[in-house]
Amino acid sequence: MDDGPVNDATTGTTATTGTTATTSSTVVELDVWAAMRSARATRRFTGRPVDDVLLGRCLEAATWAPSGGNQQPWRFVVLRSPEARAALELGAARALATIERTYGLTRPDPVDDSPRARTDRAMFALHDGAAAVPAAVLFCVGPQPNVPPLLEGASIYPAMQNFLLAARACGLGTCVTGWHVDAEAELRAAVGVPGPWRLAALIVVGWPAGRHGPVRRRPVSRVACLDRWDQPLLP
Ligand SMILES: Cc1cc2nc3c(=O)[nH]c(=O)nc-3n(C[C@H](O)[C@H](O)[C@H](O)COP(=O)(O)O)c2cc1C
Repeated sequence: MDDGPVNDATTGTTATTGTTATTSSTVVELDVWAAMRSARATRRFTGRPVDDVLLGRCLEAATWAPSGGNQQPWRFVVLRSPEARAALELGAARALATIERTYGLTRPDPVDDSPRARTDRAMFALHDGAAAVPAAVLFCVGPQPNVPPLLEGASIYPAMQNFLLAARACGLGTCVTGWHVDAEAELRAAVGVPGPWRLAALIVVGWPAGRHGPVRRRPVSRVACLDRWDQPLLP
């Protein structure tokens, strides 16, 4: 898939070093702009555990997000049980099959060292090793009467993004996944999610094996317009 030209968010300095916080009590807070610029998906983790106090800090940031009517219709579940890990493994395997089918992803040749091959290899490694990720957090959203699905999502995904940025600010790496879609029944059973609640996101978290890096995105001039669809906001 051609994403078109992208911008490297390379203006950061400290943001790209990935050497920020080490323990929950000594978190070095990263400027929010630096965190946004460098919160690239992390798919390889060291074996170092992620402690609950630090996860709690990041989840506190999640609770600072806006939601419709300030109803805060969320529940965040840190997954550690063998049942949850089995569900992660299943969801990851099924998601990988979908990704392979949808995007024509194939396992890269071992000698291919291109950026594309490295990213694809990391993706396979994450999915293959899903049961052993250092931590995973399931974001759930409660029922909101008369709220259409996209608006319902708007009351949980800001919390997810706050979590991603807080984790990055602490030096943790994260990757958003769709595994909860592919193992919904198993995750619901493992966690005991009440019927009307929906599974909104499944984030894997850990200490990056490599470095945090700049995100690459299309420039704002291509995606922002003024009043009309075909009228760019910026030159
Ligand atoms: C809804 C959603 C689902 C995703 N699912 C997966 C997944 O199943 N496996 C995976 O490795 N990455 C997954 N990702 C991560 C994206 O591939 C990643 O955010 C995107 O390629 C941008 O990567 P970057 O932030 O490193 O630039 C998902 C991201 C989103 C937002």
